[in-house]
Amino acid sequence: MPRTNGLDRRTFLRGAGSSVLLGTAGMSSLAAGSGLLGARRVAAQPPARPHPPAPDDYDFDEVIDRLGTDSVRWDRAVAQYGDGIVAGMGVADMDFRAPPCVTQALAERCAHENWGYMHRPASYAEAVAAWNHRRYGIEIDPSTLVFTTGVHPGIIAALHTFSPPGTRVLMTTPTYNGFYTDLRFARTVTDDNPMIVDAEGRYSIDFDDFERRARRCNTFILCNPQNPTGNCWTAEDLTRMGEICLRHRCVVLADEIHCDFVTRGNTYTPFATLDPEIVANSLTFKSGSKSFSLAAMKVAWYYSTNPDLLERVKANTRADLSTLGMVAMRAALNEGEPWLDDLLVYIDANHDAAESYIRDNIPGVRYRKAQGTYLAWLDVAEFAERIGAAGTAARESAEGSADVTPEKVVQRWFAERAGVFLNPGPGYGTGGAGHMRMNLASSRKIVELALNNMAEAVAEA
Ligand SMILES: Cc1ncc(COP(=O)(O)O)c(C=O)c1O
Repeated sequence: MPRTNGLDRRTFLRGAGSSVLLGTAGMSSLAAGSGLLGARRVAAQPPARPHPPAPDDYDFDEVIDRLGTDSVRWDRAVAQYGDGIVAGMGVADMDFRAPPCVTQALAERCAHENWGYMHRPASYAEAVAAWNHRRYGIEIDPSTLVFTTGVHPGIIAALHTFSPPGTRVLMTTPTYNGFYTDLRFARTVTDDNPMIVDAEGRYSIDFDDFERRARRCNTFILCNPQNPTGNCWTAEDLTRMGEICLRHRCVVLADEIHCDFVTRGNTYTPFATLDPEIVANSLTFKSGSKSFSLAAMKVAWYYSTNPDLLERVKANTRADLSTLGMVAMRAALNEGEPWLDDLLVYIDANHDAAESYIRDNIPGVRYRKAQGTYLAWLDVAEFAERIGAAGTAARESAEGSADVTPEKVVQRWFAERAGVFLNPGPGYGTGGAGHMRMNLASSRKIVELALNNMAEAVAEA
């Protein structure tokens, strides 16, 4: 039976939405005995920002009921596991209310009530360039920006350009599962470079293996910060990868979609700020999908300092943008920075809460706080063994069920017994086994509910 602290899901979500007024008193009942409140009291320090955050400006504790809004994160989890799901902690988008500046800009544009073809205003590219300059010191000539409906179409265009069908594409793994879909679209195959993981759960690159593979690949998809491990690559790591790729004429496709999410004490180093010769062997892909949770607005872009690479990829790109996407993204970039700065403090505290709660309350599951992203990469190997997930997977496969892995058994276990939806690790490539990915971009109440339910279910296992 899923645990909802005595409430059914809809009641909980409704109640939680209004219990914002109760402030921490409302939250304490959910977290009672969990140890999470202690973690919440730790004042998180944001990474250094040009605008110092004011943590009380926005209400990230508010619970938004996304059920019935055609959301992948919630509605698809319920479609797969039924009404017992109380915490959709899967696909990487955020549960928070959009920044007020976005809602206001959209409302103003909707009031016009005409949706004819849009002439993209110069102010849009300028907003993207200004954001990257202001926050990260990246110089982008606005005329070199190519706008796409997502990072995927850009990466697929680049693969079509540089990696002929049947050739291998280098990736450091575990890495974002969506890249494997991009590779299929481009009829290419992966060349997984498994990361080294130490006893503490820290990931690093196996550079010898990386170079061996780079020799036979035309492209390398870099994920910086890395989804799902949360690694923020240092300038030294990036330079080493960049030099190897340059040496072997392997073009770097730098997916930096998660760049705006960095936890306390960590830094995002844009690939585009390395040595110019290394940068000239790359394209960078970004979007508003993560930073402002505009994934369904389809707002992404790519650029390169190398006109040759850029023109060749552009020739394979049908660039596109919608009016509402453009309006939302431009407002976020121009006016949403204080919202994002506040949010980073909140997400950082969610990571802290998850790390300490899991350590103290969920035996067999380990979580080492991510350096970046709002994702938690959980090591569930011990727990999977405890519930005999490998044996269950083998038996079900022998009985004819397709693609049952131990991690899918773990996914089902938490969905059915805790009402919590997580993503199974093997989808993220070599090194993903024994792991689950948990999305922490939610009201603290939902994060606490998910963790409490998981702890109770594990205690009874
Ligand atoms: C690393 C990475 N790249 C790309 C995407 C998808 O990008 P978009 O929404 O712009 O298509 C995601 C979404 O989770 C991601 O994590």
